[in-house]
Amino acid sequence: MKNNYSILTGITPSGSGEVHIGNYLGAVVPFLELQKNADKIYFFIADLHALTTVQNKLELQRNVENLVLSYLAFGIDTKKVVFYRQSDITEHTELQSILNNVTPLALIKRAHAYKDKLQKGTDPEDINMGLFSYPILMAADILLYGPDYVPVGDDQKQHIEIARDVAGFFNKTYGETFVLPDIYNIKESARLVGTEGKRKMSKSLNNYIAVFADEKIIRKQIMSCYTDPNRKKVTDPGSVEGNPVFTYHRLLNDNKDEVADLEKRYTTGTVSDMEVKEKLIFAILTKFKKERALYNELKSNPEKIKDILREGAEKARVQAAKKMMEVRERIGITNKYSEFHY
Ligand code: TYM
Repeated sequence: MKNNYSILTGITPSGSGEVHIGNYLGAVVPFLELQKNADKIYFFIADLHALTTVQNKLELQRNVENLVLSYLAFGIDTKKVVFYRQSDITEHTELQSILNNVTPLALIKRAHAYKDKLQKGTDPEDINMGLFSYPILMAADILLYGPDYVPVGDDQKQHIEIARDVAGFFNKTYGETFVLPDIYNIKESARLVGTEGKRKMSKSLNNYIAVFADEKIIRKQIMSCYTDPNRKKVTDPGSVEGNPVFTYHRLLNDNKDEVADLEKRYTTGTVSDMEVKEKLIFAILTKFKKERALYNELKSNPEKIKDILREGAEKARVQAAKKMMEVRERIGITNKYSEFHY
């Protein structure tokens, strides 16, 4: 890891717009870790990316609010971090449109989000262009700011690789302009399994445990978690491997003695699934107690939030505009008759 590094990451206000424990472990924890020593830090809400699936005004507005409050409550240090909304910086879409021209179709056809849709049986003719060109917008998000590291979970890894490729194509065509970013994550938590125990935890699959929802909802989400399907009664020895409830305990329960005790009792058939889940509810609510309180406090102060986002956008715009002037220069949009500036 470099000494003076910059980082950038984002989150999409899609699905229910809630932050789940997968986002927390896969992206927030590494981000908070990197935030301590980074020189420059960018964090944004990718509201334009959400348009591929959220096409309802009120839903989008609610989701963006949820995420802004959640991330501030997690302790994003807004004195150090440039915190903004993607749509406030129009250079993101402008750069996307330029990058389209150096991006081979074949590269985008290999992208997971697009391929997943095809696999689910969606007719390729019905896939919207927003989803198809999602990775190019993501490349623009990153390349405008030239971060050294992008902290994301494993599911976004391919997008970062595409951003590197696109940067490489541009640099090859027009000369060194963009920094090729590296991914950063923590192996054990880079792909948290969902509550049904099979696929990755995801907002859109509705297999998640929310961090800031009402206690009643979190209880319901945890109580409906998959455990060991072969265990029929409490006295049956159960398996903790591949059992998501234990995965969550290991990663989020700060009382390590309790986790060891529960694992031992589970494998010897002396604890119920119910008790293991009750303890998980308690552990998660305890872990996020401070953040949950702060979320509600922030919610009652919209003017403060507005100021934070305005300041973030002002700072982000300076960097984005600088880079775009360079890009304009490189590609020949500027000439002796141009006076354009942002
Ligand atoms: P999004 O909103 O799906 O997820 C936000 C972050 O959470 C991570 N994550 C997970 N990590 C571990 N286990 C899981 N089950 C899990 N689910 C989600 C994601 O990897 C991500 O780091 N396209 C991005 C947002 C984005 C972005 C960017 C990120 C747009 N532009 C530029 C980085 C740089 C997304 O939809 O993330």
